Amino acid sequence: MKITSSSFVKSSSKSKDCPDQKFYEYAFIGRSNVGKSSLINALTNSKKLAKISGTPGKTLLINHFLINEKWFLVDLPGYGFARKSKKEKKIIEEIITDYFLNRNNINLTFVLIDLRLKPQKIDLEFMLWLNQNNLQFKIIFTKADKLNKKEFIENPDNYLKILYNEIGIHPEHFVSSSKSKLGREEILHNISLQMNSKKA
Ligand code: GTP
Ligand code: MG
Repeated sequence: MKITSSSFVKSSSKSKDCPDQKFYEYAFIGRSNVGKSSLINALTNSKKLAKISGTPGKTLLINHFLINEKWFLVDLPGYGFARKSKKEKKIIEEIITDYFLNRNNINLTFVLIDLRLKPQKIDLEFMLWLNQNNLQFKIIFTKADKLNKKEFIENPDNYLKILYNEIGIHPEHFVSSSKSKLGREEILHNISLQMNSKKA
């Protein structure tokens, strides 16, 4: 899929404040610092559409970006950032829960997972929660450029095996790097397939 235009629409803290639900949207979610905002920029070929920072916890609101004038990419706040207070973590959790349970135009959710790390409890719990709420999701492994060849080959399968053993699900997955743009075409193609299959 070719990206011909991308623009920031708005930031919202509640699902009811999000833009009109007339377009499908594709949600990007994952732990703080996993690379959600960077991937949105890589997909749209833009350097600063979504804000990126070396400091985790940069994205604190639900950010909608309009793509090709007909669908939304959504950058969500990261969960599980250890250095945030209990109160802040609870606020972020509420934003995320309200978004997924009340937004009706989500066509697909991408859960981003840092390919360098062993499966983290918080990610497994979040994917279990999505599954229990019948919310379809796919995994995007991020930061593939930081791995050696062996890890690059073995880590995705090892992760998926543990995910299956722990929570009994085996979602479709992509391997990506915002730095090298690995996975970009494949992810965009998948969004376009998903969009067309729902229209039919
Ligand atoms: P929050 O908004 O805090 O939830 O973080 P985020 O998930 O949006 O992560 P963000 O895109 O801000 O990236 C976090 C850090 O990881 C930044 O320093 C990025 O430059 C770096 N990063 C993101 N993606 C990649 C990647 O594919 N490769 C490498 N090497 N670094 C990456
Ligand atoms: Mg971000």
